[in-house]
Amino acid sequence: MVKNEMLKDLYDEYRERFEGKEIVLGEGNVDSEVMLVGEAPGKDEVRLSRPFVGMAGKNLDEFLEISGIDRASLFITNAIKYRLSKINPKSGNVVNRPASKADIVENAGFLHREIRIINPKYIVTLGNVPLKSVTGDFSASIGSMHGEKKSVKIMGAEYILFPLYHPASIIYNRELKDTYIEDLRKLREVMHDM
Ligand code: URA
Repeated sequence: MVKNEMLKDLYDEYRERFEGKEIVLGEGNVDSEVMLVGEAPGKDEVRLSRPFVGMAGKNLDEFLEISGIDRASLFITNAIKYRLSKINPKSGNVVNRPASKADIVENAGFLHREIRIINPKYIVTLGNVPLKSVTGDFSASIGSMHGEKKSVKIMGAEYILFPLYHPASIIYNRELKDTYIEDLRKLREVMHDM
């Protein structure tokens, strides 16, 4: 079976498993050597049914451009493929909520199968949630692991993991901007070394 068919089957199963949720699936070049894994889609992503099109996506695009990485050449997905939301008891509005350990665990099997289908060389995680999901290590932390490659085994296959901060963290902490650009520069070097 070709990758697109395997992905379709996986995504059909995912939709069934998480029926009723606001789901946004992965997109991009299925033959890419680089797979970018974010946390979960937000409101804008759900509206447009595409990952990373909101504010975090704008930041991501900007940094990819600075680093000379073409977004269209990548495969982009999320560790959790539905909006993590809750009702704000005060306003009654639907707001985002952080991922729980249970969310990560419930979704990790699907992410690992998605990785095996795409079978990239590099898995670039954006933030803590995909880092924990990919490694299966809940003590893994982006603060100490960003910008350094690490080998990971997923369903019997070896990949090069390259953890980056989540692009949204730069929105709230401009001091991270230089670190982020430096990490992307290192990623580009790692990619060219191979
Ligand atoms: N943040 C994410 O982690 N993923 C998206 O798709 C959008 C924002």
